[in-house]
Amino acid sequence: MQDRKRNHLLLVALIAALLPFRVVAQSSVTLQVDAGKVGAPIQPTMWGIFFEDINFAADGGIYAEMIKNRSFEFADPRMGWQEHKYDRFSLNRESGSMTIINRVGKTTNPRFARVTTNASKGYGITNEGFRGMGVKQGGEYVFSVLASQHQGGKVTLRLELVDEKGSPIGEASLTPEGVKWKKYSVNITATRTEARAKLNIWFEGTGTVDLDIVSLFPADTWKRRPNGLRADLVQLLADLKPGFLRFPGGCIVEGRDLATRYQWKKTVGPVEDRHLIINRWNTEFRHRPTPDYFQSFGLGFFEYFQLAEDLGAEPLPILSCGMACQFNSAEVVPLDQLDPYIEDALDLIEFANGSTDTPWGKVRADMGHPEPFKLKFIGIGNEQWGPGYIERYKLFVDAIKSKYPDVTIVSGSGPFPDGEMFEYGWEELRELKAEIVDEHYYRPPEWFFENATRYDSYDRSGPKVFAGEYAAQSVAIASPENKNNWRCALSEAAFMTGLERNADVVYLTSYAPLFAHVDGWQWTPDLIWFDNLKSFGTPNYYVQKLFSNNRGTHVVSVQSNGKPLTGPQVYATAAVDRNTNELILKIVNASESTQPADIRVDGIRGMKTGTVTVLKSADPEAVNSIDNPLRISPETKPLKASGRKLDIQLDPLSLTVVRVPIR
Ligand code: AHR
Repeated sequence: MQDRKRNHLLLVALIAALLPFRVVAQSSVTLQVDAGKVGAPIQPTMWGIFFEDINFAADGGIYAEMIKNRSFEFADPRMGWQEHKYDRFSLNRESGSMTIINRVGKTTNPRFARVTTNASKGYGITNEGFRGMGVKQGGEYVFSVLASQHQGGKVTLRLELVDEKGSPIGEASLTPEGVKWKKYSVNITATRTEARAKLNIWFEGTGTVDLDIVSLFPADTWKRRPNGLRADLVQLLADLKPGFLRFPGGCIVEGRDLATRYQWKKTVGPVEDRHLIINRWNTEFRHRPTPDYFQSFGLGFFEYFQLAEDLGAEPLPILSCGMACQFNSAEVVPLDQLDPYIEDALDLIEFANGSTDTPWGKVRADMGHPEPFKLKFIGIGNEQWGPGYIERYKLFVDAIKSKYPDVTIVSGSGPFPDGEMFEYGWEELRELKAEIVDEHYYRPPEWFFENATRYDSYDRSGPKVFAGEYAAQSVAIASPENKNNWRCALSEAAFMTGLERNADVVYLTSYAPLFAHVDGWQWTPDLIWFDNLKSFGTPNYYVQKLFSNNRGTHVVSVQSNGKPLTGPQVYATAAVDRNTNELILKIVNASESTQPADIRVDGIRGMKTGTVTVLKSADPEAVNSIDNPLRISPETKPLKASGRKLDIQLDPLSLTVVRVPIR
């Protein structure tokens, strides 16, 4: 799909790459802030997050399951598993076997493994995890399995965590009792830290056991929930204090064809009944093939809503509108067969908000959340375009608004921030009085610097904007050479001053994609990178964090010589926080020189000592990494005001956030 996008933008990216960074001799800049001139409220949803299961973001990522292909449902049911057939004491004798049984006709989880062993210590299977398993010395790991012990035999499962070389680093065992399928679990304590551990299961005794949903989770998941999420990754999200959580994507919503679209109903209820499908990013990029990428949906819609709740973020689900990815198969559902798709949207609102005596509200309650999730937004379609989208969108709007008039509907304007399909989409959506329109821009950093004024000219009475996916691309869109470097992050910061200044038009924004596994990614750049043990925020992450943690409640005026600061050297935005009584300035110095700034604040009775937080790097190509995760990260110092004046130095290539209490 992305080839066309890439060609479209390659030229622009090349030109941008040839431009020098902005080297300009600086004199001091004067900023006049009028805190009495209070402008638009800044929506609590202004700075949010976009989650998509790309780059092993879910399985192998935030979803803390460590066993790959735990239910033998991958296209190749043995993928991720290796058999050790031979008796370790008599190498010419097979000591057991594993057969994959397929209960044909069973729609969810049809397969399981049947292991027969005839020797006391010989037969075993190994799971390789998602490019290994990350275990920490002293950490507890919860092994569980659905199992049945066939009559007449007695087989014990001896579990062995091993390091990359195969040496044991943790052990436990369990013996299934009885023929009836039952869940068994036991904890394993790791004796060493290892990023690429594996799990051996040795079958001791003689007989046959059936196994399904073979699972291993760290005990210390986020909030120590079973079937939980990786705590370090959720913590990075929580630190952003996001206003909303958009899920589950992205193109994953659409599917490469309709059969592989995201169907939320198949992702709720008991984990063992969720319907595994291929992940569309498995086959998307020839340069990053990922044949072992599937969606187990262990992280499903219930868990997404719960995560949003934990983060204090508004849940924002995006649903298929009956159109598969238009860069791939572009399959569509005929208009007269769209009802089940519309039903999915209505039922989702019931699942999130309905009382426990409604059918879908009951499903939510049975999953442990009788209280509603207070869903306020729903997105129809991801990155669709053309008349096909508009005619489908209208049918969704009619149905949703007649049943749930208070739910705000998010529509889309396609994959590009300009051009024919974008203009067409906007024109139609404006005409239809759409509430919120999603825009996507994956563009070179120069575009971001130059587009800080993008929303200054938007119609103030038209639909509101959701900048739903954006990220500066250092080379070209979807290029595997793209880097999360400081140049890109700074350009996004410059652009974001324009988003905030236009808070009367822009209601929601999110960087995309969110997560990437350092060994399993398909798309770069990404906000947060991780391996099996560690994770780090990119410079772009810290830009997002500084904006989101310093949101303010209302825009106020900041100017230089009577004009807003929109570059090319200095970009600025100002806000007040009426809850904390503070003035908040965000200033980007895009030049390579130090820039003294004289800031005069009117419209207040006085300022007290505040703080100045700086995110900077002299090297625009600099990046953070697993080994140097905080190379570019914010530093905060006290800042003393004198009367109504603030004097600060804007460091070269920096984002500065000033917070001062005001009266
Ligand atoms: O963020 C990666 C992809 O970019 C998203 O899935 C899609 O919506 C966009 O094209």
